[in-house]
Amino acid sequence: MTRTAILLSTVVALAACQTAPAVSPLAEPGNPALQASRTAGVAPVLATADAVDPHSYARPLEARVTNVALDLAVDFAAKRLAGTATLDIDRRPDARVIVLDRKGYEVESVTDGAGRPLAYSLGAADEELGTRFQIELGPDTRRLVIRYRSAPNASALQWLTPAQTAGKQQPFLFSQGQSIENRSWIPTQDSPGIRQTWSARISVPSPLTAVMSAPGGGEDGDIGGPKDKARTFAFSMPHPVAPYLIAIAVGDLKFQSLGPRTGVWAEPVTLPAATRELEDTEKMVMAAEQLFGPYRWGRYDMIVLPPSFPFGGMENPTLTFLTPTFIAGDKSLTSLIAHELAHSWSGNLATNATWADFWLNEGTTTYAERRIVEAIYGPEVARQQVALGIGALGKAVEENGGATGADTRLAVDLRGRHPDAGLTDIAYEKGAAFLRMIEANVGRERFDDYLRGWFARHSFQPVTSALFLADLRQHLIRGDRALEQKLQLERWVYQPGVPANSVPADPQAFAEVDRAAVAAGRGALPTAEWAQWTTDERLRFLQRLPRKQGRAALTRLDQALGLNQTGNMEVKFAWLELAVANRYDPAVPALEQFLTSQGRGKFVRPLIRTLAADTSWGRPIAARVYRRARPLYHPIVTRNLDELKL
Ligand code: BES
Ligand code: ZN
Repeated sequence: MTRTAILLSTVVALAACQTAPAVSPLAEPGNPALQASRTAGVAPVLATADAVDPHSYARPLEARVTNVALDLAVDFAAKRLAGTATLDIDRRPDARVIVLDRKGYEVESVTDGAGRPLAYSLGAADEELGTRFQIELGPDTRRLVIRYRSAPNASALQWLTPAQTAGKQQPFLFSQGQSIENRSWIPTQDSPGIRQTWSARISVPSPLTAVMSAPGGGEDGDIGGPKDKARTFAFSMPHPVAPYLIAIAVGDLKFQSLGPRTGVWAEPVTLPAATRELEDTEKMVMAAEQLFGPYRWGRYDMIVLPPSFPFGGMENPTLTFLTPTFIAGDKSLTSLIAHELAHSWSGNLATNATWADFWLNEGTTTYAERRIVEAIYGPEVARQQVALGIGALGKAVEENGGATGADTRLAVDLRGRHPDAGLTDIAYEKGAAFLRMIEANVGRERFDDYLRGWFARHSFQPVTSALFLADLRQHLIRGDRALEQKLQLERWVYQPGVPANSVPADPQAFAEVDRAAVAAGRGALPTAEWAQWTTDERLRFLQRLPRKQGRAALTRLDQALGLNQTGNMEVKFAWLELAVANRYDPAVPALEQFLTSQGRGKFVRPLIRTLAADTSWGRPIAARVYRRARPLYHPIVTRNLDELKL
């Protein structure tokens, strides 16, 4: 980094600090940086250049949504949510219009709170961002009522037939809002910096149950009726949240309590296994509170979704959404819960203002996840997960252009691309490595104090990279020039690659396993050891094997370790990656089963991509499997795979 660049970014960081007072700009009309009386009541950081969201049409400084009230009916036959969204808005007195985001939903009418029609217009359609939805405001308009219905192919929603669920009896619906998909079913300003309180009344066909990412749920007394009738559920989120965190699931759902403020929803056939796998959840919440400060959301419940859920987990407030593929029977994949729980602080309290700063959500969460794992499962386990993370970071740097690749920056330029282009291990693992480096330099106690303070100071607020660096300087570094010099903050955030001051993996973490991988490369397989190893050790072993292997070697490996038979989906994935890279036919039945029985993007995308790129051996397999599996996959997964033209 050049000296001017360092200077410049320091100036930017300081400027961000000055424009980020703790009070609302409306409450402080003298604030010169903000021209307070001329902006709607936004979080102060939104008035900085870093917080301008290129993935939303909204112009929050002119007029912004403060509360969303949904009243929707779920229609499985039509694959539509239909009803009204009532939006409360905060606006500059001279604002003439408010701009919302819209992707595909059909607008029937727009009125103000008194039922007077308001004129509106839709802009040109962008395949990913959708369209501008501009509504004209009267001089006193403070409320909008939008009557609408979502499109059957809404990108946030997946409608499952009974056959596509675990229980096979009832249909299922779930949403996935992050990053910019909620604009396909909620008419609002779909930008993570524009926080909104919200509520919903949802009516569903009996006997289905609706759950959402907010307190409430109990069936509305007077409406729940006899069988073929609708059941209506009500929810209300009292805290302002980023709109991508509004989520719904509807299906044959049962609840099991896990502790005083924790519990799990699942289809009845999945509930017993889910309950066993999640038995440490209440302990995790307590450990997280010790580390990061009070849990601010009331309950921490989870829902285990049908196998097509496209992610491992999604941190929807009060109700984490989970893939069933984390259920291994031995709790060995529950770092996923630590991760989604940690988002209750990093991401859901302090939220990236734009997707360019996604690392603030995911990197901080990945760091926090391993601190929770350490508290619950001990330092040995955490040390191994840190080492796996460092391995993944090396791979991510390679895949993103190496040490000079622009996309290896933490603050990444996503203009002109879908925000999910930033969904890489750079955000997760370089972000986590950044925080571990700071921890190593200031000591754990001081860093923990700082982190608690960071969450407390920015609870229910959008944050940017610049704001984080300014906050570090104000509350942690406090003018210590030697420390400032050591940390290299700007280099970590704004420059590519992994700086030299990162903390290396502990070579002891996997010493035995790494030796075994080398020996296995020479033909000596660790048959006895494998049985004793943890899931993390097995994963490390499979990742460390030579990438090119002949058929005979793979057969011996499979037979010695029972890889085609493993029920652990992470281990199976690691094995199938190796098998596919080596055109190993005997793994094809297991591969087909794997790809047609779950739709987690992290698993299915790379396998299908690798197959498709192998024109003679893999592509026919990919075509055959994809045709069968596609109905199971969520729109955000098929969006990428359809491009392969299988
Ligand atoms: N918030 C993410 C999932 C996400 C990111 C959805 C970006 C859409 C866009 C969630 O917290 C997450 O990181 N899930 C991981 C699991 C985790 C243990 C790394 C996943 O789904 O694999
Ligand atoms: Zn996450």
